[in-house]
Amino acid sequence: MIIGVPKEIKNNENRVALTPAGVAEMTGRGHEVYVQHNAGTGSGFSDDEYIAAGAAILDSIEEVYAIAEMIMKVKEPIKQEYSLIKKDQLVFTYFHFASSEPLTMAMIESGAVCLAYETVEKKDGSLPLLIPMSEVAGRMSVQEGAKSLEKPLKGRGVLLGGVPGVPPGKVLILGGGVVGTQAAKMAAGLGAQVTIMDISLPRLRQLADILPANVTTMMSNTYNIRTMIKDADLIIGAVLIPGAKAPLLITREMLKEMRPGTVLVDVAVDQGGCIETCTPTTHENPTFIIDDIVHYCVANMPGAVPYTSTLALTNATLPYALQLADKGWQTACRENKELEKGLNIANGKVLYKGVAEAWSLPLNEVLEEELSVL
Ligand SMILES: NC(=O)c1ccc[n+]([C@@H]2O[C@H](COP(=O)([O-])OP(=O)(O)OC[C@H]3O[C@@H](n4cnc5c(N)ncnc54)[C@H](O)[C@@H]3O)[C@@H](O)[C@H]2O)c1
Repeated sequence: MIIGVPKEIKNNENRVALTPAGVAEMTGRGHEVYVQHNAGTGSGFSDDEYIAAGAAILDSIEEVYAIAEMIMKVKEPIKQEYSLIKKDQLVFTYFHFASSEPLTMAMIESGAVCLAYETVEKKDGSLPLLIPMSEVAGRMSVQEGAKSLEKPLKGRGVLLGGVPGVPPGKVLILGGGVVGTQAAKMAAGLGAQVTIMDISLPRLRQLADILPANVTTMMSNTYNIRTMIKDADLIIGAVLIPGAKAPLLITREMLKEMRPGTVLVDVAVDQGGCIETCTPTTHENPTFIIDDIVHYCVANMPGAVPYTSTLALTNATLPYALQLADKGWQTACRENKELEKGLNIANGKVLYKGVAEAWSLPLNEVLEEELSVL
C-alpha cells in the first residue's frame, strides 16, 4: 500500500503519525511510505531519519495527499485539507466528528474512508488509541501542578515531596481511571501524601492493591471531597463519564474552603471539566487565578511533550496501521472487530452511531455488506 504522512498543520500541533521506526516496519513489509518535508521535526525526527528508514520525502502536503492510498495523521483534518482528501482514500487519524459538523459533511462528500483513532475499541470497552494520551496527561498533571505550587507562579510555595523534617504536600485526585492512576503514581513517586477518589468500589479495590503505601483510596462523594479539599495542596480532576459531560465535583463556592495558593489541575477540561471555575487554557497561558486559587486547565496537555506523545501514540496505532496496510481496510476491519469500531464514515455513508446522532444523519448499519461491496 502507498502510505502518506502529512505534516500536521493545526495550530501548535507538533506530533507526527508515524516515526522512523514505524516507517521501517512499513517498508520492511513492502509498503511505500511518503513523508512530507519536516513532518517529524516538531517531534525530534529529521527527514534524514525517515529516508534512512526507507521513506521518500515530498515537499508539499498536496503531493502527499495526491499519492497516498492511506493517510496517517494525528489531528482531525482542518479546512485547508478537506479538498485534498480523495474518494476511496483511507484516512486514519483522530477525527472527533461529533464536535464538528463541517468536518463530518466534508468527509461524507469526499467519499473517503474515515477510520477514527478515538473509536477503535477493545472487547472490554476500552479505547486503546486514547489511553496513551491519558497516560501522558495524567503524568504531566503532577509535573505541572508541582510547578504551579511554586510561589513565583502564585502557588502555596510547597515542595510536594517535602524534605527530611518537613512533611510532604498533599495531593487529591478525583477519578481513578487512566489519568488518575498515572497521576497517583507520579505524585507518590515524588513522595507526596496522595488520596485518590472514584465512585467505583471495584476500581478503588484495584487501586489499593497496585498503588504504593503513600496513596490512600477513598469513595468519591460531596462530603468526602469537601473534607479533603480543605488541606490539599494540589487537586487533580481526572473524571470521565463516557459520552457525557464531566460531573461537576468542585463548585465555585467550594474554593473559599481551600487554602490560598492551592493548585487545581482539571485534566477533564476537554469534556467540560469537573471544577466549575475551570475554562480551557493553552500552553502559552496555562494558568489563571480565581479567589487566590491557581487553575491549570490546558485542554491538550500532551501537545507540550510531542516527543513522548508521538512515541506513545504511535506505539498504540502502528499495530492497527500495519493491519490496514497489509490487508486493506475492508479485510482488516472484517477480521478485527476493534478496527471495525473505528469506521466512522466510508464511501459517503455514516457508519458510527455517535456521529449519525450528533448531526441527525442516517446510520448505515449493514456493515458486512458495506465491507464486501466497497
Ligand atoms: N486535558 C488533556 O490534555 C487530556 C488528555 C487526555 C485525557 N483527558 C481527559 O481526562 C479525563 C479522564 O480520562 P481517563 O482516560 O482517565 O478516563 P477513564 O475512563 O480511564 O477514568 C475516569 C474515571 O472517573 C471515574 N469517575 C466518574 N465519575 C466520578 C466521580 N463523580 N467522582 C470520582 N470519579 C469518577 C470513573 O469511575 C473512572 O474510573 C477525560 O475527560 C479525558 O478526556 C484530558
